[in-house]
Amino acid sequence: MSTKVIWAPQPGPQHALIDCPLELVFFGGARGGGKTDGVLGKWALKDAQYGSDFNAIMFRRTTVSSEDAIERSKQIYAPLGGKFAASPQPTWRMPNGGRVSFRYLDKITDADEWQGRNVTDVWIEEAGQYATPDPIDKLFGVMRSAGGVPVQMILTANPGGPGQNWIRDRFQLHPFPKRPRIVDVEINEGQLRSAVIPSRITDNRALLDADPGYVDRLKMVGSQELVRAWLEGDWSAIEGAFFAEWDESRHVVPWFDPPADWLRFRSMDWGFAAPFSVGWWCVVGENFHHSGLYLPRGALLRYREWYGASGPQKGLRMVAEEVADGIKEREIADRISYGVLDPSAFAQDGGPSIAERMFSRGVAFRRADNKRLGNGLGAMGGWDQMRSRMRGENETPMLHVMDTCRDFIRTVPVLQHDPDKAEDLDTDAEDHIADEARYACMSRPWVPLGKVEPKPTAKPGQIYIGPPEDDNPKRTRL
Ligand SMILES: Nc1ncnc2c1ncn2[C@@H]1O[C@H](COP(=O)(O)OP(=O)(O)O)[C@@H](O)[C@H]1O
Ligand SMILES: [Mg+2]
Repeated sequence: MSTKVIWAPQPGPQHALIDCPLELVFFGGARGGGKTDGVLGKWALKDAQYGSDFNAIMFRRTTVSSEDAIERSKQIYAPLGGKFAASPQPTWRMPNGGRVSFRYLDKITDADEWQGRNVTDVWIEEAGQYATPDPIDKLFGVMRSAGGVPVQMILTANPGGPGQNWIRDRFQLHPFPKRPRIVDVEINEGQLRSAVIPSRITDNRALLDADPGYVDRLKMVGSQELVRAWLEGDWSAIEGAFFAEWDESRHVVPWFDPPADWLRFRSMDWGFAAPFSVGWWCVVGENFHHSGLYLPRGALLRYREWYGASGPQKGLRMVAEEVADGIKEREIADRISYGVLDPSAFAQDGGPSIAERMFSRGVAFRRADNKRLGNGLGAMGGWDQMRSRMRGENETPMLHVMDTCRDFIRTVPVLQHDPDKAEDLDTDAEDHIADEARYACMSRPWVPLGKVEPKPTAKPGQIYIGPPEDDNPKRTRL
């Protein structure tokens, strides 16, 4: 008697997934790496092992992501003897009595529906579509088994999307791991031992053999970074980054003490329940070389920051006076020329405004220009200002960040376009630092000269202070 193989795991990540007994698994990386097939296959095996005690749900935020999975489930589960019902909600009665359902999960309250049921397995497809992990975390509360099935939540994701940031932090994807590994993941107050299984296109022989042109086709349609993200699943090569011009090797400057005569100022985005962010900047006073990087006169350099957050999107709940005291403490040795603060902090709501309360402690701010977008008539909005400074001129950025400003480096490069309004950024993400940096840029508008200037040269590691450049009257004075 011959048996027909309906589905078999591929060596590498799919095997790792099937063998993994841990309660939380992150299976992430390349498009077409075999993630969907891996989870569907594992579930068929679990149904065979546990029968009617097995009750699995795949959750998604958007319809698109689930269509593929449902189609593929038909190819795998139907020949095994599963029975599919498309309505009221797509659900499989599996060949051994288990259940596999496909549902939406958007808000935290969507998870409530499942309270009190024995949900043994949860799969979050396209976890990167969730701006915060909260709705997903809530599902831990519904996972249990009266029948002794080991419960498991699997998150699958490709790089990109509004959740790119928390996923990378939570599963420690920086750098993207080469092999499966175990990490202790912090979830709310607790810790959970979890598996991180990286997925690369090279793991999917089935796809590469069936469609040898796949990789070349991807290379044709995407930018270099995008293709790297797609194929290797690299979380630091970002799909759809709002600041596509960001390049750590050009923008991040190893720490040095800025010369005392460079103008210094600070910018701030206020937050109480949400994080606040304070950035300290200096204006490069003369053409400057440091560690192989060239900082032209007039460039902005972020040399210090204070990010008031206790977790993703959670503020420190400090009052204005306390924050002001903290600012003063940090800039005790600086001569700060001015501060800009988001205009909403100037609102008086039956009492003194946040700005006034900080002023009472000796920390002065003026209202920041909060224009996010240009007017289409030539006036640049804040994002354009920030972007054009990042891009700079002649391959020399006009905005730099000291390597001590970790929260800027962590949050700004991964910000995404708003899916509904591409010229703005997705405000569901951790954007407080970007906002504050935008205020800083708007306080010192900059336009490229559009002319090629020779760069003074210095050897890497050398510090060079050049003569000030001739002032060009066309450039906005700094
Ligand atoms: N074990 C397997 N056996 C047969 N085909 C597979 C297997 N794993 C993946 N594939 C095929 O490779 C392609 C990409 O896999 P998929 O699981 O959709 O990738 P991902 O979800 O990571 O984007 C699909 O056509 C899928 O059916
Ligand atoms: Mg998939």
